[in-house]
Amino acid sequence: MTLLHDRLAQLLPGLRSERSAMLAQHAELELCAVSLGQVYGGLRGVIGVICDTSVVDPQRGLIIRGRPVRELTGLGVEEVFWLLLCGEYPDKAQKEWLRAELASRARVPDYAWSVLASAPPDSHPMVLFSLLTLSLQRSSRQARDYHELGKESLWRATLEDALDLLARLPVLAAAVWHRDQGRAQAWADSPAEGSWSERFAAMLSLTHSPPAAAAFADLLRLYFVLHCDHEGSNACALACHTVGSAHSDACYSISAGLNALAGPIHGLASEMTLRFVLAMHKHYGSAPSEGQIEDYCQQTLAAGRVLPGFGHAVLRAADPRFVALHSFAAEHISVDPLYATADHYYRIGPAVLASAGKAKSIHPNVDAITGPLLHHYGLTELRYYTVMFGLGLSIGMLAQLVLNRALGSPIMRPRSASLAELRELTGTG
Ligand SMILES: CC(C)(COP(=O)(O)OP(=O)(O)OC[C@H]1O[C@@H](n2cnc3c(N)ncnc32)[C@H](O)[C@@H]1OP(=O)(O)O)[C@@H](O)C(=O)NCCC(=O)NCCS
Repeated sequence: MTLLHDRLAQLLPGLRSERSAMLAQHAELELCAVSLGQVYGGLRGVIGVICDTSVVDPQRGLIIRGRPVRELTGLGVEEVFWLLLCGEYPDKAQKEWLRAELASRARVPDYAWSVLASAPPDSHPMVLFSLLTLSLQRSSRQARDYHELGKESLWRATLEDALDLLARLPVLAAAVWHRDQGRAQAWADSPAEGSWSERFAAMLSLTHSPPAAAAFADLLRLYFVLHCDHEGSNACALACHTVGSAHSDACYSISAGLNALAGPIHGLASEMTLRFVLAMHKHYGSAPSEGQIEDYCQQTLAAGRVLPGFGHAVLRAADPRFVALHSFAAEHISVDPLYATADHYYRIGPAVLASAGKAKSIHPNVDAITGPLLHHYGLTELRYYTVMFGLGLSIGMLAQLVLNRALGSPIMRPRSASLAELRELTGTG
């Protein structure tokens, strides 16, 4: 037994009986009506999944287990993973146990490196990340033990896989970075010492002065805490949940989530925002004036394109994740010309968007700030930013997977309707 298994085993009876009581007493409760427009419209607003790890509040932003994310900015990944899973902070012994456990599980089997070596060199970093994650399925304990496990104990194997994967994903992501940089064989093992995010920072092997190295490690810690989860129904989390609901193990499920995130209209906003700022530099030189930035924004809107880094499907106030990273940037990288332009853009964009009068939120979102920060510290390959995002979201996806297996969530099977059925229902047939 381990401390995390022990604590979850203590919490589960209460969670299971609450779920059983809900179903026994309120199974017929209507949570929301579903219109034809919503079915055609990507199920916007339709409640289809119960997810307790986090919610996105239109005014307060991301809330992790009831705590606004701005209150979590001092945590490490280990604490946030425990919080996502158990709904409480780990005590000192639990935190240290998890840190040591993840460090001890970080070794990636050699066969994964053969997979990486055999991929075409120009493969997209997300292809490599997803492929490597999937390749680890060979070591899944859930897959190995599935036929001996009862429904009540399946979660224990899922948790084993989740811990293995959480430990190894930073190693995989670092290897993808080196491979994408054209280094044939630079995927070393994870260092034995340090926290999850410190070990990832070390594995990227970027050249920094000691103060910059410390700031970069802290940035990664903050970045991953802020990107650790985003409810259960964004395309990435939902893909992971659906695959996991078939009792496919964590490697299949996380790889599926990453594949969804790789889509241009899902996980690319950070890359797109930085490309936008770089394009302004190319157009006007490295210090465009406020007037030039405003012109550029106006021209972008007039051409029917969006201002990347602004707006949000749910949030209607400043994104606390943006606020936290913006204050980090103001403290650490204010002299960077790219950031200086981006910072002007954050101030000018809202007025331009407001005058266009369409966007429901005119605030910069978290993707507006991550690009300039990562670029400043040497992560200059923009295609890599979705890997960073996916590494962060995997923390929450893994927690959600374990909880879903522990609570016996069934296989996903919403019904589809044919056009013939719609014609009949609408009297247009
Ligand atoms: C995030 C986003 C996809 C949310 O979309 P949404 O839920 O449809 O947003 P809204 O309801 O506010 O959209 C209403 C209108 O404003 C427009 N709008 C929203 N954000 C905009 C932006 N940043 N620039 C220009 N127009 C924008 C929408 O395109 C839409 O126009 P339409 O009626 O012609 O289709 C959208 O704000 C966007 O495209 N932002 C830029 C890309 C980005 O930063 N994505 C990262 C999100 S975390």
